[in-house]
Amino acid sequence: MNYAQVRQALFDIVQQTVAADLIRASAGNLSMRTADGHLAITPTSIPYDQLAPGEIAIVDLDGNHIDGPCTASSETPMHTAIMRNLPNVGAMCHTHSHYAMTFAVVGREIPLINTEALMCGAPIPVAPWASPGSGAGGEVTVKLLRSRPELKVVLLRSHGVVAVGEDIHQAFGHAYNAEVAAQVYYQGLQIGEPIIITPEQKQEIYEIYGMAGV
Ligand code: 13P
Repeated sequence: MNYAQVRQALFDIVQQTVAADLIRASAGNLSMRTADGHLAITPTSIPYDQLAPGEIAIVDLDGNHIDGPCTASSETPMHTAIMRNLPNVGAMCHTHSHYAMTFAVVGREIPLINTEALMCGAPIPVAPWASPGSGAGGEVTVKLLRSRPELKVVLLRSHGVVAVGEDIHQAFGHAYNAEVAAQVYYQGLQIGEPIIITPEQKQEIYEIYGMAGV
């Protein structure tokens, strides 16, 4: 894919992410790798309902501007830290989805309570505090993702969500599943005590669906 194609692919997923209410205004940001080893990333401070594909910035993995009329997201240091350190990550969605953020602000992980949580590699942990825009969010996320290869989603304390994938479709899917898991867990807590899926039950699901082992 050339830059125009990468920008369009990222833009299309931005629209889906907005439609799913995982991001809004200019809160949250998405990125995906380009064929020449750089990163396409949403620009800073442009409301998503006004964004044009050509405004998506191209930066190198140190965050230097390579192409495009707009300044890259203020969260570029977080995205580039993840891309520099995790070669299997091809794309990521940093969302501000309501239910997942709710758990992030109380510092409570989302346990393995359903298949959506399973797809995210639950339990979905809350990373230690890292100031938005500082790049520290990348460091705490890398540490968690490295220690648990099945993990695809991390909650940033008092901030939001990082969901990664091999490509932007996967990253979006994980961000979406994390929000569904968070909402269902939250609702479950209102009416009872959600039942955690056991390691044996998890293994059973893996076997039935031919997924990677525990
Ligand atoms: P932008 O700089 O991408 O507008 O980001 C704001 C934000 O989501 C902070 O987490």
